[in-house]
Amino acid sequence: MLLLKTIAETWNACERMRTAGKTLGLVPTMGALHQGHLSLVRAAQASCDAVAVSIFVNPTQFGPKEDFAGYPRSLEQDCRTLEAAGVDLVFTPSAAEMYPNGASTFVEVAGLSDRLDGASRPGHFRGVATVVAKLLHIFAPERAFFGQKDAAQIAVLGKMVRDLQFPVRLEVCPTVREPDGLALSSRNSYLSDEQRRQALVLYRALLAVQQQLHGGEHDPGKLIAAAMRILDEEPAVRVDYFSIVDPETLEDVLDVRPGAALVAVAALVGATRLIDNLPL
Ligand code: PAF
Repeated sequence: MLLLKTIAETWNACERMRTAGKTLGLVPTMGALHQGHLSLVRAAQASCDAVAVSIFVNPTQFGPKEDFAGYPRSLEQDCRTLEAAGVDLVFTPSAAEMYPNGASTFVEVAGLSDRLDGASRPGHFRGVATVVAKLLHIFAPERAFFGQKDAAQIAVLGKMVRDLQFPVRLEVCPTVREPDGLALSSRNSYLSDEQRRQALVLYRALLAVQQQLHGGEHDPGKLIAAAMRILDEEPAVRVDYFSIVDPETLEDVLDVRPGAALVAVAALVGATRLIDNLPL
């Protein structure tokens, strides 16, 4: 496995793969890898000749009061895990490598970036879109792999790829959950046992929407009200948003129909902000 830190050597390594006729799959991550990330690696391996993983805790997607400094970092363990998984290339740049002194160019996906997480995390999606655009330039992969758990991120990146005409296919892989339903997230490591138990209410609320929809309820107000009653069972969980939206535009849907909507939640469990969603 190649372990590279500079853009120049990564660009060259990808160019050599292309010259050898190999297709490349990219899995962008911020490290602290879990089974969700490894499911992306496996999906990439199933459809590409070579797989690259980037590990970069991207400072521009964190707000000034967010957890950039404390974000879980486990670079050595991550590299061992990726080597064992058969990954071909790992890119672990420094912040100075990705944002050289004076860098002042950003990618802003207007409109979409202000919805769901973007509404409560101003500038978050500008940071995500900027770093992913840089990674797509560096790797020029045929396919890039993202988890369904970050549904708003997928919508923003899909629009960016279409608008800027990146020749890449975005692949979305299902959310990986613990047996009790908790969506895997690097931030779960912040939770105490009690908070982890409280956090399960998020998935229960999402499932309630799915069940009521299958039972014939299409009114988003009624579906959300039913979910909020479940969320009220855990007063320590403070809901940021609970929305039923169009998965591409992230706009609220007025009539919920199976196959055309996404139910998404963000909440604070203690100081930890968790997100989850279910395509309906
Ligand atoms: O989903 C993530 O881990 C990050 O937002 C990403 C896509 C790696 C960009 O920093």
